[in-house]
Amino acid sequence: MSQNKVILNYDGQSFEYPVVESTIGDRGIDISKLRDQTGLITLDLGYKNTGATVSEITYLDGDQGELYYRGYPIEQIAEKSNFTEVMYLLLHGELPNKEQFDNFETGIKKYNFVADEMKRLIDVFPRSAHPMGVLSSLTSALTAFNPKAVNVNSKEDLDHAAEMLIAKFSHLCAWTYRKRMGFPINHGDNSLNYVENFYRMCFRRPNEEFVMNPVVVEALDKLLILHADHEQNCSTSTVRMVGSAHTGLFASVSAGISALWGPLHGGANQAVIEMLEMIEQDGGDVAKYVEKAKNKDDNFRLMGFGHRVYKSFDPRATIIKKAADDLLNAMGINDKALDIAMQLERVALEDDYFVSRKLYPNVDFYSGIIYRALGIPTEMFTVMFALGRLPGWISQWKEMRLKGDPIGRPRQVYQGAQKRDYIDIVNR
Ligand code: ACO
Repeated sequence: MSQNKVILNYDGQSFEYPVVESTIGDRGIDISKLRDQTGLITLDLGYKNTGATVSEITYLDGDQGELYYRGYPIEQIAEKSNFTEVMYLLLHGELPNKEQFDNFETGIKKYNFVADEMKRLIDVFPRSAHPMGVLSSLTSALTAFNPKAVNVNSKEDLDHAAEMLIAKFSHLCAWTYRKRMGFPINHGDNSLNYVENFYRMCFRRPNEEFVMNPVVVEALDKLLILHADHEQNCSTSTVRMVGSAHTGLFASVSAGISALWGPLHGGANQAVIEMLEMIEQDGGDVAKYVEKAKNKDDNFRLMGFGHRVYKSFDPRATIIKKAADDLLNAMGINDKALDIAMQLERVALEDDYFVSRKLYPNVDFYSGIIYRALGIPTEMFTVMFALGRLPGWISQWKEMRLKGDPIGRPRQVYQGAQKRDYIDIVNR
């Protein structure tokens, strides 16, 4: 079968570029010879039409609102699987059998502690420090305590690095929460599963017996599953970009945490609750804020609405909305900010500005609501997202290194000053 090609006519000449086929979704034009042949580069701000890699991990269709992990639809995964199994699936490509699952869980539990010196590091941060800054620093610091570079040619080495980071990261996330709250830190308990253990490390108080609430465990598990991977988003691309310089796994993930922190990315779940609180304090006039969001002279945006890729609906938002409803009912929670969220959703979904631009509530609109219901402080929301996204970052880093992707180094179209001579300061 002959390969599809794209013909480019430029400057009186014709150039052919092969089309790279996909199993589903976007196909790519391989333009790797473009600059050599034509002197041209492509320009695509925000990489809206640019494929940075060929990947086998996650597929999403923004127009249809579909998301698959390794081919499995997110709806089936969210209903039937659990976060530990999803981590295995993303990392290894297939669902584990019982023995593989047990070995994976045991592998994680082997590293279910963090060096005491790390506690001293946490102590020196002010309590007011944003947990994402603390988490990024601590993750990078893990390199100091585990300096051996991962040998990507060794499956055993790769598996150990992934299991070690998965185990230790849950501690770092829980400990940033404890730091924020001014509580003493908790160590892990190997009799619990991953999510239960994290939940206990966060919420166990020193002066009372810890009671596991299965409704909370289920909601947390679901949230972590829904955030586990999302192909080449900003933080994942950051992890891959940093890792493409053969930077170590922990440092690459630390860079991804910084990218996730931003309010246009993972920081949106915090921004959603802050926005709801602001509307509430301002008298709860939802329509006023919808108008502000539509006003081009006002830089206010409805946080939790819109998505770079999903232009019909965010399938994760549908699942999480139901989880949020279930949790609020089960916990008997009545919250003014949550009422405002529901009003906002209704008004925006009927407003032509939002409908015509395909701006729907995204996963972060509802995840913030669940975290708030669980009593998690807003600054911690993005940390919860990071815990969920960790297996995606590791899987993408691993794939990038195993495929031997070259170092990421975009080009630019330069529009600055032309060559000119230096003028001494006294003559300027
Ligand atoms: N409120 C009001 N208007 C919006 C919003 C919003 N939340 N989002 C987009 N728009 C408008 C833009 O002003 C623009 O209007 P115009 O065509 O009249 O100029 C149009 O919709 C397209 O917006 P873009 O910014 O070009 O869309 P893009 O795909 O680049 O941005 C993004 C997507 C960043 C998510 C954006 O919708 C946004 O800022 N949302 C709020 C922040 C948010 O919720 N982020 C979380 C994303 S999910 C995640 O990272 C897990």
